[in-house]
This record gives sequence, structure tokens and C-alpha cells, in this order.
Amino acid sequence: MPEAGGLAFGPLPGDPGFGATVDGMTRAALADEAVRERLRALWIDRGVLVFRRVEGEDLHLDLSRCFGRLIAHPTRETRADHPELMTVRYRPDDGWLMRVDGELRGTWLPWHSDLIYVDRINRGGILRPVQLPGRLGQTGFIDKIAAYASLPDRLKRRIEGLEVVYKYDLDPAKQRFGRTAEVTVERFTDGVRSIQDRLDDFPRVIHPLVFVQRETGRKALNLSPWFAIGIAGMMDSAGDALLEEVARHVVDDTEVYSHDWRSDDMVLWDNWRVLHSAAGSPPDDERWLLRTTIEGDYGLGRSEAAPVDAAAYISV
Ligand SMILES: [Fe+2]
Repeated sequence: MPEAGGLAFGPLPGDPGFGATVDGMTRAALADEAVRERLRALWIDRGVLVFRRVEGEDLHLDLSRCFGRLIAHPTRETRADHPELMTVRYRPDDGWLMRVDGELRGTWLPWHSDLIYVDRINRGGILRPVQLPGRLGQTGFIDKIAAYASLPDRLKRRIEGLEVVYKYDLDPAKQRFGRTAEVTVERFTDGVRSIQDRLDDFPRVIHPLVFVQRETGRKALNLSPWFAIGIAGMMDSAGDALLEEVARHVVDDTEVYSHDWRSDDMVLWDNWRVLHSAAGSPPDDERWLLRTTIEGDYGLGRSEAAPVDAAAYISV
């Protein structure tokens, strides 16, 4: 790809058909509005941007603000001087621990969109590692535009106009659609346990199964397998079978990009356009990243009951 503002652009490793790498980003380069415009256009076009050889909190925040206003997330441990940074951390002594296909993993997470369990899903985020495990630790990405494009025509016709119901429940053992592993929870953190003890406080929400990217007109298969509980108006065996068929297409038949973290990476994703997942850590190995949350509302989600206060949730 061409260079602009001293930056070098390239495909992701393995060239999965979406995403891009950006090398050479500095705060000085980011001050140039032409560079910022180029980055925003690339983000919409490609969905995931991996910034190489970038470090530091200031650049993390400045880079995130290039793509929108940042939301402070009060339910996670955050640093008092920078409430816009959310901690994504597994600690061997008290972290969220699962058994995944028989193997212990710290904070393994299924395919999902962040905040799909509220009516306003955030625009995106940027992750930056603080401490990486010696093995595992990858973040996976699936392009929902590619997932829609490769959907068989008969399924495109069947899902036209359908909506999906989502319900907050952080226990991945209870995932209903698009499961990729047999999972049991060995240990919750106190925060997750507290949420799990009052799931009735969190109303169901509805999002369309197909979302049109407004800048390009491209359709995305707008399904987050984690948190989906059925098709609105078809919460029966036929509806469940259809949703499982669509979910299997997303998780089994769509190209996955698995990001192997380097200590000086930052990764931006479009939360409306791509799914992500976490491979987790070996149980005795800490994994610690910081994440920003970029505000947005695609205006297509709605609550079945009262408006939802996103601050009451733990974001994943
Ligand atoms: Fe997430």
C-alpha cells in the first residue's frame, strides 16, 4: 500500500481479506489532519488496524480520539488519572478462569461484539498490551462483511429483515449459538460473580441480523454468537435452528485473523463491523491489556424494556 505522512501501510499477516497494518505512527504524525483522515478512511475500509512499533499512554489516547469521543467505563478497574482506559486483565491468583476443551485458560472469551447486550453498541476500541503471557493470549477477529458476502443466497433471503434478541450473561458455558468449544467456568472474579448473581436486572435487547455500513453500503452479518438468545418473534425450535445455521457460517466458514501480540502493538477495531474473541492465557500466566472505548450508536438497537444503563455492565 502507498505511504502517507511517513507511515507505511500493509496487509495483516496471512492477508485475511480485511484489516491493515500501520507502521511509523507518532504523535507528531497524528497532528496532521490529512493523516487522521487517511486513518479514518482506512479503518472504515478495512475494519481492523494493527499499529506496529507504537508505545505509551499518550499515543494510545491520542490515537483513540482520532476515531471518536472516548467513553469512561466505570465498572472496570480503571486508573484514576485516565478514566478512559479500561483494564483487561487476567491474574493467576484471582482471574476469570475457564476449562476450554479440557484445557485451563485464563479469561478465554467466545466470539462477540462489545456491548451487544445493550441498545447502544460502541463504535470501537484500541487495545494496548501491558503484560503478555508466554504463550496463547491472541485476540481473534472475524469480518462480518465477509461473513455476509459468503452467506448462501438462500440464507440471505431467509434472514432478510430478521432481528436477534440478546441477553447479558457472562457465563460462556451457557452460550446458545455458534459455540466453538466445550467450556466450563472454574472461577469467576468477584465482579463477574456479582453480575451473574443479578442477571434479572438486565433487560433483553434487540439488534438487526443484517447491518448496512453507512459509508459504503456494504452489508454485514450482524450476529454476535455470545449473548444471542434467539430470533425476535421466532423464539422456537425453527428459529433456533436457523440462527444456529447462520452462527455456524460465521464461526466455521469465515476467515479468522488471530492477532499474535507484540509488546509494542496497538490494535484498533470497528466494533460494528468485526467480531472478536480472546484465546486466553495459560492459567499461571498473567495477561494485561488496556483498552479505550470509542463512543457511537448505530441507532439500530433497542431495549425490550426500559433504556439500559451501560455503566451497570462489565464490558467484554
Ligand atoms: Fe470484547
